[in-house]
Amino acid sequence: MTKVTIPFIQGLKGKRTFAMLTAYDAPFARLVDESGVEMILVGDSLGMVMLGYSGTSPVTMDEMVMHARSVGRTAKRCLIVGDMPFLSYQADHAEAIRNAGRLVKEAGVDCVKLEGTAKQAPVAKAIVDAGIAVIGHIGLTPQTAASLGGINVIGGQSYEHAKRIVDDALAMQAAGCWCVLMEAVPADLAAYITSILTVPTIGIGGGRGCDGQVLVTHEMFGMFAGFGLPFGKIYADAGAFIKKGMQQYHQDVQNGSFPGAENSFPIDAAMIARLKKEQKA
Ligand code: KIV
Repeated sequence: MTKVTIPFIQGLKGKRTFAMLTAYDAPFARLVDESGVEMILVGDSLGMVMLGYSGTSPVTMDEMVMHARSVGRTAKRCLIVGDMPFLSYQADHAEAIRNAGRLVKEAGVDCVKLEGTAKQAPVAKAIVDAGIAVIGHIGLTPQTAASLGGINVIGGQSYEHAKRIVDDALAMQAAGCWCVLMEAVPADLAAYITSILTVPTIGIGGGRGCDGQVLVTHEMFGMFAGFGLPFGKIYADAGAFIKKGMQQYHQDVQNGSFPGAENSFPIDAAMIARLKKEQKA
C-alpha cells in the first residue's frame, strides 16, 4: 500500500484522471481507502449529511476537527483533505493559519480546502506560506451561496461571469494552491480552465474535462437526499437496502423470530432451576 501524495496527484495532470470521495467517519474512511479512489474529502457537507443542518455555514471548527480526526486515524492510503468551515479563515490570516493548523495537527489531514473567489487568494497564500497545502474551491461556494443568490450553476450567465471564474482560478493558483476545485462550473469553461492551469483541477458538476472528479459519498449511495443540483449519480441505493434490513429487523422483533437461540448465550438449566427454587423460598 503506497500513500497517495500531493506530488503524485500533480504528476497525473495530463496523463490520467483521478477520483475523490467524501468521508466523515471511520467506517466510510476505511471503505474509500480500500476502494482505490485517490483522495478523501472531509467536506463541510458533513453539516447536512451527518449533523442535520440545513446548509454548510453552521459547521464549526470543532465539528470539522472531530470528523476529520476519525478519518485521519483510519485512512492509510488516500490523500486526506480537510475543509475549512465558514468563518474559520475570513476574519484574519493568523486565525486562518491556526485553524488550518488544527486540521493538520489534531486531525492528521494532508491539506486543507477553502471556498472563495480571487478575494480569498491572499488568505490561501498566507496558509500556504505557513507550510500547509491548500486547495482553492471556486465556482459554486455553498458556504456563501445564499448571499450570492442561491445554489446555481456559476459562470455561465454572461461573459463577465465566465471571466470572473477564470480569474478566480488563476488567482488561487498564483496564491500557491496546489489544486483548484470547481463546483457547478459549465463543462466547457471548466475544461478551458483545466487547460490553462498548471495545477490539477477537480470538478463536481464541472464536466469530464477536469483532471479529477469528486462526489458526496452518502449521496451516491442513496443515504442523503442531495443538494438539489444534477451533480451526482446514484451508484447503489444502499439507503434503501439498509432501510429494508431495518424493517425486517422490526418485523422479526415484533413476531419473536429475533433473537433466535443462535443470537443468545446458553446457561446451565440446573442453575436457572436453582434460582427459581431459591426465589420462591
Ligand atoms: O463539502 C463538500 O463535500 C464539498 C464538495 C461538494 C466538493 O465541498
